[in-house]
Amino acid sequence: MKIVLVGYMGSGKSTIGKLLAKDLKSSFLDLDDVIEQRLGDSISNVFKAKGELFFRRKEHEYLNALLMDQRQFILSTGGGTPCYSGNMETMLNLADHVIYLKLSIPGLVKRLLKEKEHRPLIRDIEDKELPEFIGKHLFERNNFYLKANKVIECDNKDPNTIVDEIKELLR
Ligand code: S3P
Repeated sequence: MKIVLVGYMGSGKSTIGKLLAKDLKSSFLDLDDVIEQRLGDSISNVFKAKGELFFRRKEHEYLNALLMDQRQFILSTGGGTPCYSGNMETMLNLADHVIYLKLSIPGLVKRLLKEKEHRPLIRDIEDKELPEFIGKHLFERNNFYLKANKVIECDNKDPNTIVDEIKELLR
């Protein structure tokens, strides 16, 4: 089975993906890690040196390659992955389940205030501007995220509860 997790930056895709993979005895892949390994550089440096468009092309290319692969996996994607180059349609066509880990704007702000530094899209935004930025960004991106097969509300839930809810949905 191929399961793909989507959601905004800081929504817990990697944490939940790893836990879910362990529980389901499946392998775990993180698209950002795949990109960093293949390009031999950090996402931040890739954005800086080659720009976002280059990153989006590589993201699209590696996502397609993974989804065409015969292997089974849990894949956590980057926050922007579903929003470019028809990626959401590809995921919906080629994966068994695409699951949106949904968090409220205040929930995301709380997490991202602590984790801005390695995220090129928000690193330079002042803390007080972050709620406004995330609100607008999420408003645009929700059009893509909400196409997922399943939506899990993640506010105020611990990771194991979220994993249990996903397993319940997969039954
Ligand atoms: C991005 C999210 C990041 C990473 C890149 C772009 C985005 O992944 O792919 O910085 O466009 O939201 P995370 O969602 O894991 O932070």
